[in-house]
This record gives sequence, structure tokens and C-alpha cells, in this order.
Amino acid sequence: MRANPLAYLDAELGSLREQGLYRRLRVLDGEQKARTSVGHRSVVNLSSNNYLGLTTHPRLRERALQALTSLGVGTGSVRTIAGTMEIHMELERRLAAFKKTEAAVVFQSGFTANAGTVSSILGREDAIVSDALNHASIIDGARLSRATIKVFPHRDVAAARKVLEELPRTQRTLLITDGVFSMDGDLGPLPELCDLADEFGCIMMVDDAHASGVFGEHGRGTVDHCGVHGRVDVQVGTLSKAIGALGGYVAGSKALIDFLYHRARPFLFSTSHPPSVAATCIAALDVLESEPQLIERLWENTRFFKAGLQALGFNTGISESPITPVIAGENALAMRLSDRLFEEGVFAQGIGFPTVPKGTARVRTIVTATHTREELQFALDCFRKVGAELGIVPGP
Ligand SMILES: Cc1ncc(COP(=O)(O)O)c(C=O)c1O
Repeated sequence: MRANPLAYLDAELGSLREQGLYRRLRVLDGEQKARTSVGHRSVVNLSSNNYLGLTTHPRLRERALQALTSLGVGTGSVRTIAGTMEIHMELERRLAAFKKTEAAVVFQSGFTANAGTVSSILGREDAIVSDALNHASIIDGARLSRATIKVFPHRDVAAARKVLEELPRTQRTLLITDGVFSMDGDLGPLPELCDLADEFGCIMMVDDAHASGVFGEHGRGTVDHCGVHGRVDVQVGTLSKAIGALGGYVAGSKALIDFLYHRARPFLFSTSHPPSVAATCIAALDVLESEPQLIERLWENTRFFKAGLQALGFNTGISESPITPVIAGENALAMRLSDRLFEEGVFAQGIGFPTVPKGTARVRTIVTATHTREELQFALDCFRKVGAELGIVPGP
């Protein structure tokens, strides 16, 4: 009999189990919303990126159904052959207007938007200067580009400057940061990095996956929030988080978008979104315009919940956004905190090394606009009980 060539994977999985990093998938029994059922248990859900609760918004459902009925379930082709429908073009025009850029292109996900863009606009001769905590899709795109990759310590503008000073001025260079960092909820120093990009002639790129729909006027993102419109050459956003559906996009100049139409490999070689997804995203942009109270409620809930955790004595790091980490320390303790919270009725995912640095394992919480005060207070009460039980915060 043939020996199993994948047997080494069992050893890898065993090692994950030993480190307390082996995770079973949590399966939702129904919709993605603020209180949901996971594994047949009703829980307050603090684990999604559904910032505005749009995954179940009636207007988005209605537009998706209309598009399903009138345009079918799929496109049957990549964008560059027969997979571009008028609704894809409409979405791109709407995204460009939303981000105040000349043009935009939609990808299948935020991941492919980042990876496809970085890997196509740069090549072997070029350099990428990247924040140490940038998203995995930026790292993969940088590797695929074969450019020289220089990483500067998280949010350290002086260190980024030093890296740039050491690169030849003639070398084409991309300076890249997340707008909001997904594990700590802090913001990239956009104005300062834009200054560096101006001084050193870099291409400036921001991944605003967690900021679009959350920061800035009508949720335009950190570029708007930080007042740096026109200074960021490449803006990436996702349609999978606050927008509530699926996809990613790049917003920038006409030339950038035209180039990506010709060279970004996920755009060229992977089938386009079903029309219902594009229609859903257009409806979400309408909601951002017409229901600003959703973003206001998101921020009210964020302030309430963050202050509550801090009052209980939890270490919530340096977050400036609705992403609030509850830092426990060692992997096993963070996973135990997450598991105990789940038993009490709160779904908040544990995240450990290597996703975050050793000793900073955490439970990551994200509140949404649609959590009620009662749900958030219930979650805080559970944090108080379990945190004391595990010795993370003082008991009552
Ligand atoms: C900072 C950041 N960029 C990009 C992405 C990828 O977005 P998507 O889920 O749409 O692929 C994520 C999602 O995890 C993210 O956190």
C-alpha cells in the first residue's frame, strides 16, 4: 500500500494541539448578527466584522433578490472575458465616488485586492516598505512581486524614514500601511507616512479594510478621517466587513485602475462576483449615505463597551476603533477566556501567537451598530465573571 505522503500534517496538527492553538470551526446555525446561534447556543456575537449590521439589512436583501431574479446567480466568466455586467461597472463607479477617486476596480475579496495589486504594480527591481503588522494579503502580494521587502516596526515613522534613507532614491518604492490594524484596532499614522511618501517620492498605499464604513464622513475610511485625500495613490477596501457582503476593491487614478484591469492576476484569472453580490454592495453604499445613524450607533456602542472593559480592569491595548482586544498574555489563557465566555453566552474569538506577538494572546472583540445596550452589558457582566475566575482582573 502507498505510504500517505501527507502524514506529516498529522504531526503539525498535533503540535498545534500541544500549544493550545488547535481550533474547531464555530458554526453559525443561522444569520450573521449581533445575537446569533452558534453550535445551537444563543450567544452575543463579538466576533464578526459586520460593523453596521448590514449582513441582514432589509434593503440589501431586497436588492440581492431583485438582482438574482433579473440577472441570475452567476457570471460564468472572468471580468476580462464575458464576466463584466453593467452592475459591476455601476458598483465601480459608486466606489470611486465613495472614495473620491477617479476610478475603482472590484476584486473577489479584500485579500485578492491587496495581493493582486501589490504583486502587479511592483517587480523584482522595486522596493516595498511595509509596517510590521500589515495584513497577510499585503505580505503575500509583496512576496509575489519579488520586490525587495523592508519591514519597519509597527507605526514607527522614524524607522520607516531610516529605511527609506537607505534605499536608492532611484528605486521605485511602495510605502504601505493598514488604515486600521485588525488585531489591535489602532490606526496607521497616515499623515506622517504621506509626508514621507511625498519627500521620498514613494507610491503611497493604504489598506482600509477595517476602516471603510467605520471612519470618516459616511464611512469613507481613514484617508477621509485623516484628511489625506489626494495623497494616497492606492486605496484598498473590502466589501466583506462593514459593507456586509463579499469582495474587495482598489480606488485610485484611472491609469492605476486600467493597469490593474490588464495585469492584476485575480482580476484576470478568477470569475467575477455574482450580480446579486454587486447589487448588495451598491445597496450598502446607499445605506451609508442615507442612514448615518448606523455609524453613530457603532461609535456609541464602541465607547460604551471599551469603557466598560477598561473599568473592569482589562488590558485593552491601544485600540482607537471598534476592534477592542482584551489582552490576556499566554495563548492558553486567552483560549480559556474565549472558551469560558462562550459557555457563558458570549462569542469572542481567542487569538494567539503567531497571529499576534508572544505574550499578547487575546480575545478580540468587535461591537456592531446593532448590538443593544442590554447585550453589551450582558457581555461585560460575563467578562467580569470569567476574568475574575481566571485571575485576569481582580474579583468583585
Ligand atoms: C486589514 C485587512 N486587509 C484585508 C483583509 C481581507 O479582506 P477580505 O476578507 O475581504 O478578503 C482583511 C480581512 O481579514 C483585513 O483584516
